[in-house]
Amino acid sequence: MSVQSPGPLSSHEYDGIREYDNPTPGWWYAILTATVVFSAVYFVFWHASVAGWSIHDSWEDDQRAEYARIFGAVGQLKPDEASILAQMGNPKFMNIARATFIGNCASCHARDGGGDVGVNLCDESYKNVVKIEDLFRVITDGANGGAMPSWKNRLSDNERVILASYVASLRGTTPARAKAPEGQPIPPWPRPAAPVATPPAPK
Ligand code: HEC
Repeated sequence: MSVQSPGPLSSHEYDGIREYDNPTPGWWYAILTATVVFSAVYFVFWHASVAGWSIHDSWEDDQRAEYARIFGAVGQLKPDEASILAQMGNPKFMNIARATFIGNCASCHARDGGGDVGVNLCDESYKNVVKIEDLFRVITDGANGGAMPSWKNRLSDNERVILASYVASLRGTTPARAKAPEGQPIPPWPRPAAPVATPPAPK
């Protein structure tokens, strides 16, 4: 490395040591100024203006787009008996609900609903469910002081309706490992009164 040409000696001296008066180079000031200006622009754009966007905003946009893609044609599904029964016969929605179940519920209820930490959802006995709508209520609000978590803020209304339908459809299936029944046997689900018109599922 080349040594900068020594400028004039400065006037002070300490223990016989003297130093040259070399100014801080211009490029150093240029970088300093650039970072100060950048930080000001950065702050104003991301923190002090409405123009900046956040990772949460883009997540919400994506979520909205995904809900529109999945549920676009059906609008808001009602969490009532007729609609939960009707969606049991909608293979497209049952596939989606199955994926949601495996992603969120299988850790406690096992992939096939046979039960683990959570109760067996394939047998005839239920702890918190008497009518089919109760499935939606338990999924929405949770049960047993949070042992069964609430999904109100984690899954949309429609997702919870089709999940209730999916869980209803698990009843009577044979899981690989069935946890012993808990709660009380309940009457069978009602049959859909008349064929309920289900809007075509989006492609
Ligand atoms: C952290 C573990 C856990 C997760 C995750 C979980 N559950 Fe549960 N679930 C439980 C437990 C424990 C119970 C039994 C509550 C009780 O004792 O009353 C339960 C009960 C239920 C019941 C009521 C069954 C009955 O017999 O009353 C339904 C329906 C249900 N869960 C569905 C789901 C769905 C759908 C998901 C996913 C969105 C899910 N659960 C995720 C632990 C879990």
